[in-house]
Amino acid sequence: KKTAPLPDDIKARKGGAPLVSLTAYTTPMAQMMDGICDFALVGDSVGMVLHGLPSTLGVTMEMMILHGKAVARGLKQTMMVVDMPFGSYEESPALAFRNAARLMSETGAAAVKLEGGVHMADTIAFLVKRGVPVMAHIGLTPQSINTLGGYKVQGRGAAAQSLMADAKAVAEAGAFSVVLEKVPAALADEITAEIAIPTIGIGASAGCDGQILVVDDMLGLFTAFKPKFVKRYANLGTDGRAAIQAYADDVRARSFPAAEHIFASDAPTGAAK
Ligand code: KIV
Ligand code: NA
Repeated sequence: KKTAPLPDDIKARKGGAPLVSLTAYTTPMAQMMDGICDFALVGDSVGMVLHGLPSTLGVTMEMMILHGKAVARGLKQTMMVVDMPFGSYEESPALAFRNAARLMSETGAAAVKLEGGVHMADTIAFLVKRGVPVMAHIGLTPQSINTLGGYKVQGRGAAAQSLMADAKAVAEAGAFSVVLEKVPAALADEITAEIAIPTIGIGASAGCDGQILVVDDMLGLFTAFKPKFVKRYANLGTDGRAAIQAYADDVRARSFPAAEHIFASDAPTGAAK
């Protein structure tokens, strides 16, 4: 029976068959992708996708732990990574370790993810040396939306050099992989060729070592907006609304519940029903 890969197994997939990943926030969603995805990310996108927050800035450690525990219950063959929320790691390596250790010990996550390149390299090295596998996240880093000035493509023009520097810095600091979000495809390919750890693209390039999407985006469940980099593989939001309308129509017509959904006064003989 297949068991979940470890961060080192993910790292070893550099240059090989593309890594497949999605976000997950709940047990049933985790079960849906278990054994199909190489890893599932309990992303801080949970704040926007499930809690209706305007950005990821309001996401707390408690939310990440609650959703991390739920996702862990649904995964057997897929590795779980949990995002470090805004404010839980930027201040110092020591604070980052304290919170990363909590995320791992309370949820069972195999690794944490944090946003930042060159300026987070010391923290990444500090964590890795102390037993915390780190997935880095560079390019568009949504926790910095207020200093980036919006959800723009990162690394265009002269900024390409600093993004390459970020990628090299997190790889050298010991990250086992790095998410590249919303960067030019050619730059994503250059970074992928340059660094020794797998690149996981989202709005990057098919040439990355792997891909990730927000699961509610690709299922069409989250419909408040659709980034260009999202491909919708289903329209569960539309389907769900149609199902709810059909239920409402049935209730109003008294055609639900029907005979097969209701109970007789006398218990049936034989198997308990
Ligand atoms: O929180 C999230 O969903 C993420 C992925 C988009 C990489 O960080
Ligand atoms: Na995130």
